[in-house]
Amino acid sequence: MHTKHEYTQKNTEDIMPINGTDYVELYVSNARQAAYYYQSAFGFSPVAHTGLETGSRDRESYVVQQDKIRLVLTSPLRSGTEIGAHIEKHGDGVRVIALWVDDATRSFEEAVKRGAKPYMEPVTEEDENGSVVRSGIHIYGDTVHIFVERDRYNGPFLPGFEAWDSGMEIRPVGLMYVDHMVGNVELGKMNEWVTFYDEVMGFKQIISFDDKDISTKYTALMSKVMSNGNGRIKFPINEPAEGLKRSQIDEYLDFYEGPGVQHVAVATNDIIHTIEELTARGIQFLTVPDTYYDELLDRVGEIDEEVAVLRKLGILVDRDDEGYLLQIFSKPLQPRPTMFFEIIQRKGAISFGKGNFKALFEAIEREQELRGTL
Ligand code: FE2
Repeated sequence: MHTKHEYTQKNTEDIMPINGTDYVELYVSNARQAAYYYQSAFGFSPVAHTGLETGSRDRESYVVQQDKIRLVLTSPLRSGTEIGAHIEKHGDGVRVIALWVDDATRSFEEAVKRGAKPYMEPVTEEDENGSVVRSGIHIYGDTVHIFVERDRYNGPFLPGFEAWDSGMEIRPVGLMYVDHMVGNVELGKMNEWVTFYDEVMGFKQIISFDDKDISTKYTALMSKVMSNGNGRIKFPINEPAEGLKRSQIDEYLDFYEGPGVQHVAVATNDIIHTIEELTARGIQFLTVPDTYYDELLDRVGEIDEEVAVLRKLGILVDRDDEGYLLQIFSKPLQPRPTMFFEIIQRKGAISFGKGNFKALFEAIEREQELRGTL
C-alpha cells in the first residue's frame, strides 16, 4: 500500500485529469419536494428538469445549483426501477458523484484498464444544444462516479433536460463549491478504497487519522484523505474502529445498509452569514458544549471572528500549519441517520478539522444516545 503524502508528484503524468465536481445526484423518494427543500432552505436556484413532459418514462429529476455546486434530485416514476431499489435499500442518498473531465472516454478506459468496475460505457448524448459524453465506474457500495465531458454543450444541464424555473424567489446563502465528499466503508475496507483511488484514479493520500486522533470514550474511526492531481477533488474515506460502543460509522453502515457517502462538505466565504441564514430557515446543526468555546482561543490562537458569535451559532474552528478553518455539521437530512452536510470556510487551512473531531463525536454520540443506536 502506498502512503505518499505529497500533493502531486513532479514529473508524473496525471492519469485522471479532473476539472472539478460536475454534479452530485441523490436518489430520493420525492424529487419534487426535495427540490423545493434545497431551494427554500439551502438557497439553491432551479436550473433544469426532466420527467414525463420531456419524454422521460422512468424517472423525474430536478437540477438545482448554487455557484459551482450542482445537485440532481431523482425519483422513479414507477416500481421495479434501479432508482426505486436504491431508495428501498438505502433511503435517500447519494448515487452519483459526477466528475467534470475533458475526455470521458479516456477517463473510463484508463480507470477500467487499472481495475475499475464499469458502470456505464462511454455514451454520447445529443440535443439541439450540442453533445455531452458520459461514462461511469462503480465505487464503494452502490455509489458510482460518472465522468462528464461537456465542452461541446450549451444547454442548461444535460441532453434530455429542459430549463426549469420554479417561480420561487431564491435567496442564496453563499455556498460556492464542493470542498470534499466523505465515504463511509466497512471495517477493514478503508485501505482497499485508498488503493483504488491511488491506483485506479491516480489520486494521492494527503492525510491520515487513526483511532488515536479520532476517538472518544466510546467510539473511534479511522480516515484517510485522497486527493486528485490538482487538489480540486478530495475524498476522505472512513472506516469504523473498535470502541466500547457502536461508532457513528457503524450506525451509518447499519442504516444505509452498506457503504456510501456520509457527508458533502460545501465551501462558503462567510460562514457566519451562511449559518445565520440556514439556521433561520430551519436547518439543524450539531452543537458542542459551551466549554468548547471557553478553550477555543487557547487552542487555535487569534482569529478574525468573535467567539461569542461562533458560540451562538455553534461554528467550530481548527488550525493547521497553513491557517485555520471554520466548520459546522448539519444533522442528517433524511429520516435515516445517514447523509449530512458540512459547511466549511477555509482561511488558509488545508486540513479537515481534526482538532474538532473529539468534541464533534461526543455531540454525535449524544444524538445516537437519543436514537438508541449507541
Ligand atoms: Fe468533512
